[in-house]
Amino acid sequence: MTATLQSASAEREPVLRLRGISKNFGAVSALTDIELDVNPGEVVALVGDNGAGKSTLVKVLAGVHQPSAGSIEFCGKPVSLDNPAKALELGIATVFQDLALCENLDVVANLFLGHELTPWALDEVAMEVRAWTLLRELAARIPSVREPVASLSGGQRQTVAIARSLLLDPKVIMLDEPTAALGVAQTAEVLNLIERVRERGLGVIIISHNMEDVRAVADRIVVLRLGRNNGVFLPDSSSQELVSAITGATDNSVSRRLERKAGHAHDNNGGAP
Ligand SMILES: Nc1ncnc2c1ncn2[C@@H]1O[C@H](COP(=O)(O)OP(=O)(O)O)[C@@H](O)[C@H]1O
Ligand SMILES: [Mg+2]
Repeated sequence: MTATLQSASAEREPVLRLRGISKNFGAVSALTDIELDVNPGEVVALVGDNGAGKSTLVKVLAGVHQPSAGSIEFCGKPVSLDNPAKALELGIATVFQDLALCENLDVVANLFLGHELTPWALDEVAMEVRAWTLLRELAARIPSVREPVASLSGGQRQTVAIARSLLLDPKVIMLDEPTAALGVAQTAEVLNLIERVRERGLGVIIISHNMEDVRAVADRIVVLRLGRNNGVFLPDSSSQELVSAITGATDNSVSRRLERKAGHAHDNNGGAP
């Protein structure tokens, strides 16, 4: 079943609104005219074949790449995500695939790396309490916060990386393939964690190749193909529908464009999409 590029619940202001985002690398058009809304408390899945532009889109929102065209609104205001620090400061956090954890440091040290609680001296006790509290809120299964990350499972590492981002109190979190390297049980753990993150009211963008995971966790599924929107689907869509849009067996870009025009016309009348 298809959905719209605009947010499902029109009464809520999207936390993130992308209009006409394009990104060229020299002659390569990695993204063309991307439109996307993300609501608070909504999980949007980005799916697409290799080279579809998923990582590029995430990097644009993370402030790593500057868009060649288009506009980004964050909490209703136009923003320019000039660099990763700026995106983070505004409240757009990214968990990249490599997770960037320090293997030899324990969970607490990894959670607070670079932003330690230091009223006068390193406040180990406060950091440990904060770590436990957050992990409990997330129903995370981490046996000890004094365990070095090297001894954790893939799912636990993903949990630590996500928790670390949450400590910065973002409004949007982007997860690049959070379940790619995980087995069934650990995948379920991470999907549960994403549910907890959604409940905290964050907008979540998740990249995944796994249609089962995507259907289990997403409110809307946005298909990218060759750098363009190729359909937006609800989680009750069949794998076949999704795969058709991903591979280009169905070209939804024309209907999407028409829908967008209709949406804009509506916007101009001051109405909800
Ligand atoms: N830094 C870059 N320089 C040049 N081309 C790039 C760069 N990053 C991505 N691309 C190109 O942009 C397109 C989209 O890539 P990417 O966003 O990585 O897709 P995905 O994450 O969906 O696999 C591909 O054609 C890729 O080769
Ligand atoms: Mg990628």
